[in-house]
Formats: sequence, structure tokens, C-alpha cells
Amino acid sequence: MQARLGLTTRIPIGSGADLAGARRRIRQIANELGFNLIQQTKLVTAASELARNTLVHGGGGHMDMTVLDDGRTRGLRLSCVDEGPGIQDIDLAMTDGYTTGQGLGLGLNGARRLVQEFTLDSRPGQGTTVTITDWVSAPPFPHGE
Ligand SMILES: Nc1ncnc2c1ncn2[C@@H]1O[C@H](COP(=O)(O)OP(=O)(O)O)[C@@H](O)[C@H]1O
Ligand SMILES: [Mg+2]
Repeated sequence: MQARLGLTTRIPIGSGADLAGARRRIRQIANELGFNLIQQTKLVTAASELARNTLVHGGGGHMDMTVLDDGRTRGLRLSCVDEGPGIQDIDLAMTDGYTTGQGLGLGLNGARRLVQEFTLDSRPGQGTTVTITDWVSAPPFPHGE
């Protein structure tokens, strides 16, 4: 497996090629962890929007990928981190259609809807960290029950 349990892999986000590479890595790891295709696509789409924000609005940064195990199932946690201008008004930024750039303004809230856990931490002048986590659905009859 590319990312082992508890180990964090850091991917730099500094170019469009980095975004494409991050998408590939996430899909591969999610697949290895047992996420189904729909879950993989949701996670990759959400992460892609957040990494694009890191690049476009945050001026670049990195994505940390961590494989989790809560004793019941496995999960993948992705943190997009930058030390850019930060977000002045988080509620406004989370509103569908709000953009300070040339985007559609659907990235942040769209990403939130696609994953199971979403946290946003941002300080004006210091930077932004957005973390998403998804857990592999438990099989219907685990361990022969
Ligand atoms: N990493 C970030 N750093 C600074 N501002 C951000 C960041 N991510 C999002 N934002 C702010 O939140 C707004 C909404 O983001 P998003 O929903 O992805 O829309 P879009 O990227 O299309 O503008 C952005 O226009 C920007 O003002
Ligand atoms: Mg965006």
C-alpha cells in the first residue's frame, strides 16, 4: 500500500501538474483501502477542489494524506494547507456561488457535501487549512456475522 496506517504522506501543491498528481495518488490509495468507485470519485472531486483553492487562492502549499483506522473501518484524511491570505468571512466563503476570483464559487461547499467530515481553519494573513475525511463503508456482513 502506498500510504501505510498512521503515516502521513505530504504532496506539494504548487502547479496544475501537482493537482493532477494528487488526484491520481488519492484515487489509488482510496482504491487500495476499499472505497467503492462512487466514494472514490466523491473524495477525489472534493480534494481536487480544495487543492485547487490551495493553489489559486492560497498561493500554493501542500496536501497531507493520512490513512486512519478507528477499529471498525479504515479512513483517508486529506488536509490542504497554505500560508496564503486566509479567508476573511468563512460563512460567506462557504456560500454557494460566492467567489473572490474567477471560479464558480461552488468548490468549498461542494466539497463539504461530498465527504463525511469537513473542517475549515483559516486566519486572515496566516493561511488556510481544510481537512476532509472519508471512511470506507463497512461490508454488509462483516466477519461472517
Ligand atoms: N485556501 C484559500 N485561501 C484563501 N481564500 C480561499 C481559500 N479557499 C477558498 N477561499 C475563498 O473562498 C472563496 C470560495 O471558494 P470556492 O467555493 O472554492 O470558490 P472559487 O474557488 O470558485 O472562488 C474563494 O473565492 C476565496 O475567496
Ligand atoms: Mg475553488
